[in-house]
Amino acid sequence: MFARKPGQRARAVILIGFMGAGKSTVGRALGELLGWTFEDLDDRIERREQRKVADIFRNSGESEFRRAEHAALQELLGELQLGADRVVALGGGAFVQKANARLIQDSGVPTVFLDADVTELWRRCRAQAEGPGQGIERPLLGSMDSFRKLYEARRPHYLEASFRQETIGKRVEEIAAALVQVLGMDEGRKKRRR
Ligand code: S3P
Repeated sequence: MFARKPGQRARAVILIGFMGAGKSTVGRALGELLGWTFEDLDDRIERREQRKVADIFRNSGESEFRRAEHAALQELLGELQLGADRVVALGGGAFVQKANARLIQDSGVPTVFLDADVTELWRRCRAQAEGPGQGIERPLLGSMDSFRKLYEARRPHYLEASFRQETIGKRVEEIAAALVQVLGMDEGRKKRRR
């Protein structure tokens, strides 16, 4: 890995938003478009802790998960400072934690809030929990009512992101292409390097 030269632009972006916002799906597509590695912070947490996110919640509680999440984020941001090209997706609660938001802001890595209305987010999460071959387990999914309350409490935090991108009615590829524009990143860079 090479250290970034002074004045060189950050080649990383962090996607934030509520459960079901499409952070991982869009992140993967954006990574492909830019030729950057995609990383889901929850995967790093699972590797470091050697257990699934749902098991951390189940066996050790949310506060232990938040501790592990903060430690993983710190490690990741350290790598980004060395100049790694990366698209990162955070779990829905990560940016809401003040200490995490501060770390990210201090790192200078731009953030994008992937937005959608709560009814659509709920529909997507239910489909991912119940859909054939999916079974995505989200410990904080709860009832529609608790889901909505959590969404309403978190949305003001998400709005602190550097950019907001609407996702309703848009295909994943369309959103990824819009992000390339929003971030002022040159899609052609990948092609020229070949
Ligand atoms: C969480 C969201 C999950 C995961 C954990 C906590 C949250 O990630 O990090 O279950 O607090 O909203 P997704 O947003 O990818 O579902």
